[in-house]
Amino acid sequence: REGRRPLIAGNWKMHLTHLEAIGLVQKLAFSLKPAELEAAEVVVLPPFTALRSVQTLVTGDKLDIGFGAQDLSAADSGAYTGEVSGGMLAALACQYVTVGHSERRALHGEGDDVVAAKVRAALKHGITPVLCVGEGLDVRRAGTHVPHCTAQLDAALEGLDAGQLAGLVVAYEPVWAIGTGEVATPEDAQEVCGALRARLAERFGSDTADTLRILYGGSVKAANTAGILAGPDVDGALVGGASLDADEFAAICRTAA
Ligand code: G3P
Repeated sequence: REGRRPLIAGNWKMHLTHLEAIGLVQKLAFSLKPAELEAAEVVVLPPFTALRSVQTLVTGDKLDIGFGAQDLSAADSGAYTGEVSGGMLAALACQYVTVGHSERRALHGEGDDVVAAKVRAALKHGITPVLCVGEGLDVRRAGTHVPHCTAQLDAALEGLDAGQLAGLVVAYEPVWAIGTGEVATPEDAQEVCGALRARLAERFGSDTADTLRILYGGSVKAANTAGILAGPDVDGALVGGASLDADEFAAICRTAA
């Protein structure tokens, strides 16, 4: 992965109050050495309610830890009760936002059209989307996981050109591996991440595809990180459960560094 800095992002999902969030970020910053934080980019994705506290801590203490949100609205403002806009996240200096996570797709009915609109909303506000794609167990059993994931990628990036992608991050998260303890094999992860990069190269040219980072997510732990990251097209990890434990998450980051 020449030239691509590994990215380890912790998706906290609906866990941790703002006070707990501060504690976790402080522990991470204390545990990881400057050289490790330079070698691998470390990012946390807290719930909305903790973003301001994390921003204040990170900027106040000049921590080399990035942060972002787990979702955003496709709209800029208006009568959308409960939604949070890209502009609001940008005002909090969020660098990243996950889009198209399988939990949003499954539990909130977000289809490809919504995912595409959210990718555009993030880019419009200068926030890097972490675009999640991944197949369920039925698709994996049918052996059509590669076309399934490349179709999700195509749909989400419909109509965009290379210049608009601005560092886009793609995360391959097989649904059957999320929160199940059943991690994909390094070969599984590389197969799909490689296919996603090949598809990006077809669509946007290999210069662009070679710079974009593609992560694996699904039951990543310190013990399986090295194997997963061995794939030449796997540039990091999107970590759920294991990102809630400072020692475990720091060990994952250290492995990537
Ligand atoms: O976005 C990360 C996630 O879906 C993976 O979750 O708990 O299997 O690491 P987990």
